[in-house]
Amino acid sequence: MFRSLTAWLGLLSVAAALPAGLFPPDSALEKRGDGYNPPRSVVYVQTFRTTSGGQLSLLPLVQQNTKVTHIYLAAVHINDNPGDITLNDNNPNDTIWDTVWSESAQLQSQGVKVMMMLGGAAAGSYPRLCSGSNGAVNDDYYVPLANTLKYHKIDGLDLDIEEQVDVSCPLNLLRRLNQDFGTNFILTMAPVATDLQPSEYGLGGFKYSALDSQATASGKPNGKLVNWYNAQFYNGWGDSSSPVGYNAIISNGYAADRVVLGVLDSPNDGGSGWYSINTYKSTINTLKSNYANFGGDVGWEYWDAGSNDGYSDPWQWVKEIGTAIFGAATGQVNTVSTPIPYGPSPWPSLTSTLEGLGALHIEAVRALNITNGSLDGALKLLGLSDIFIISTA
Ligand SMILES: *[C@@H]1O[C@H](CO)[C@@H](O)[C@H](O)[C@H]1NC(C)=O
Ligand SMILES: *[C@@H]1O[C@H](CO)[C@@H](O)[C@H](O)[C@H]1NC(C)=O
Ligand SMILES: *[C@@H]1O[C@H](CO)[C@@H](O)[C@H](O)[C@H]1NC(C)=O
Repeated sequence: MFRSLTAWLGLLSVAAALPAGLFPPDSALEKRGDGYNPPRSVVYVQTFRTTSGGQLSLLPLVQQNTKVTHIYLAAVHINDNPGDITLNDNNPNDTIWDTVWSESAQLQSQGVKVMMMLGGAAAGSYPRLCSGSNGAVNDDYYVPLANTLKYHKIDGLDLDIEEQVDVSCPLNLLRRLNQDFGTNFILTMAPVATDLQPSEYGLGGFKYSALDSQATASGKPNGKLVNWYNAQFYNGWGDSSSPVGYNAIISNGYAADRVVLGVLDSPNDGGSGWYSINTYKSTINTLKSNYANFGGDVGWEYWDAGSNDGYSDPWQWVKEIGTAIFGAATGQVNTVSTPIPYGPSPWPSLTSTLEGLGALHIEAVRALNITNGSLDGALKLLGLSDIFIISTA
């Protein structure tokens, strides 16, 4: 009761403070997902320019009633010098980000959660954060990060771990963030889809099931420190053209409200696994029919979303995905259990070569991913160098 009254007053004062015409008059009344309950419509933002080279504005995400619920500013890196933190190439406090921060405040005033993604493909952030004694959180690196999150009023953090660390690293970080920021601070992670499936195959160096069973806290939804997982169904780690891979995660024990379907919103944003918006909408519809508590969808990455679907602006893709996420469930209930599809590999012929030498498909994808498509490197990683020499002799 108090909460909704406060929310109303908040919206009224915001509406009064904004220039006329910035938001359509009914936008404050528009029903959209909320920050804490599924389903969610989420986007990662890493490139802050438009496809034609101008400054990318995030405001259409609310002006156009896309129903977006969360955005991630990506990617934050913890560099070698303690306190040297960058959002892509610049310190988050650099004036280059001023527009992003003022737009973020406007998004937040409309109920959208603005979060940061930490890590990703660039290595080093996690080993640094966890370089205290016995793998404890190292305050020299952690405290400036925490101060930065507070200073910019960030609503949550996504741990995207694509380098080898012990399970204690994410566990200690999640506990510390929860302790310092409280239970309303949203904690997510970005495993590849296979990490959450029975194979538990991925890039982080630890098993997500081992992490998730220990990463508990009273006061958080489901008693779990990780609010939800943004599972990557692309780059050869999963396939979002059918519900099968997502279903496999749910039957592996994860609650549907904690699993968000991660897709490429443009083929330029990843190595493989992009599909057209109609394919994504169909998968989402089926998942909504399968699970009343479907977790939602996250697109990587915003700037050119839908550019291969004929959209001129990325918010159009987000809005169309929103109609599937927040509309009525119309898909077929899918109970078929077939082999879990991985989707196309970013290196299809090298993957086949490695499979021909006895590697499992997903091992081949992982080896090529780590070596960025080097056959020699992948063979070494898989212990297959000798076999290959013999077979080509
Ligand atoms: C940004 O500024 C805030 C406030 O001065 C400070 O606490 C934080 O450490 C700064 N972050 C970085 C990365 O310099
Ligand atoms: C991977 O290799 C491609 C060319 O084959 C190159 O353009 C790209 O920058 C490389 N990526 C990394 C992470 O090294
Ligand atoms: C490896 O996979 C991860 C997760 O999908 C991705 O972020 C990264 O860019 C990939 N690396 C290469 C070199 O393709």
